Amino acid sequence: MTKIKKIFLSEDEMPRQWYNLAADVKTNPPLGPDGNPISPEMLAPVFPMNIIEQEVCQDRWVDIPEGILELLVRWRPSPLVRAYALEEALGTPAKIYYKNESLSPAGSHKPNTAVAQAWYNKEFGIKRITTETGAGQWGSALSFACSLLGLECKIFMVRVSFDQKPFRKMMMNTWGGNCVASPSNETNAGREILAKDPDTPGSLGIAISEAIEQAVTDPKGETRYALGSVLNHVMLHQTIIGLETQKQLAKVGIKNPDIVIGCAGGGSNFAGLSFPFIHEKINGADIRVIATEPFSCPTLTKAPFGYDHGDVAKMTPLLPMYSLGHTFIPAPIHAGGLRYHGMAPLVSAALKNELIEAQAIHQLECFESGILFSKTEGIIPAPETTHAIASAIREAKQAKEEGKEKTIVFNFSGHGLMDLVGYEKFLTGQLDDYELPMEIIERYLAEIKDYPKPNFV
Ligand SMILES: Cc1ncc(COP(=O)(O)O)c(C=O)c1O
Repeated sequence: MTKIKKIFLSEDEMPRQWYNLAADVKTNPPLGPDGNPISPEMLAPVFPMNIIEQEVCQDRWVDIPEGILELLVRWRPSPLVRAYALEEALGTPAKIYYKNESLSPAGSHKPNTAVAQAWYNKEFGIKRITTETGAGQWGSALSFACSLLGLECKIFMVRVSFDQKPFRKMMMNTWGGNCVASPSNETNAGREILAKDPDTPGSLGIAISEAIEQAVTDPKGETRYALGSVLNHVMLHQTIIGLETQKQLAKVGIKNPDIVIGCAGGGSNFAGLSFPFIHEKINGADIRVIATEPFSCPTLTKAPFGYDHGDVAKMTPLLPMYSLGHTFIPAPIHAGGLRYHGMAPLVSAALKNELIEAQAIHQLECFESGILFSKTEGIIPAPETTHAIASAIREAKQAKEEGKEKTIVFNFSGHGLMDLVGYEKFLTGQLDDYELPMEIIERYLAEIKDYPKPNFV
């Protein structure tokens, strides 16, 4: 048989249901300001009720509405690609596959949930959506989704990325989105932070506070907030990635891979690929699942598991998650989407239950891996994605040492065509490795030491 490079699914073969890990892995409930579990009604000013229902849903399989399938089919199913050239360069007996999520209109996995969230908001009668964005991938994905559905979109973009990635803003504008640098002068949360530190690089935690504040203060009540990661419903929408991958692997006779890898910022692309495989693992399959993060923002590898807010101004409920503390300001590394202080409660629960492993990798190894990938497979990866590639390369080298023909699958979460400033800095020797010192982590954690502790089951 000739070598198959790309495994496609027809549009008819696209999954019709999402997989919900909440049915199989228990998490502690989000808590309100009084320390008691929040009710769905308390979230109503922030999210439309149909999304809140999905956030608390415990069903294992959730039907994807026809209207959302019609939006997803614009770029899905995405191909699963065998990285023959990378394998050859590494001289590994491992089979390396990547799920290419960079082919969406915005260039990453983010539109998978953006179109779903915009669709549910529209169904509920919402006219305008506010959000935050780090690297700009999520903001552009939501602008794209809102343009398809005729909704207004307002994006608070973390200052450092706003300056590093001007073309992302132009993409958002092209789709009709309105993007401002965060912290901004448009909200109380932004003004307070600017008054204390006018030169702050910003953080996702700050941008989230601004976006929620604008949503809940709309006097007409026609605005809601959308989050691009972290929450259960976002993880749910992304599972289409792993569900497609399972069907694609079956086409080349692979029931389960040996290793599944994703980079983890708030956890959504990692969850999207891995949760359907974790379902198999819970049912007896022998699969290693690895979440990779930067050493400079080591949420899964160094932070404690506890309750924390998702944003600086404490507008979100307390979520049970690994967290570096909601006031954490990360170093301005180029993987902007991996600079979040917390981690999705479901990904956190999977780690706590030892269903997954976590790994931290330095920025230079990631960029080196990204360049090897670009030179072999051809696509220039997003800086976030290079973390997954670096892990896959490590595992492929390990397979070589062990002389084992392992199957490795990783999520190619996005392309890096808007992130070339990072590549330029790497190629001209201007980037360094940075490991976040334990003293700094402890300083941020001191602020949340008295928060309630999850009684994890
Ligand atoms: C290309 C890409 N990969 C990964 C991430 C990390 O986010 P998440 O962990 O939610 O997938 C981002 C976030 O912006 C991204 O743009």
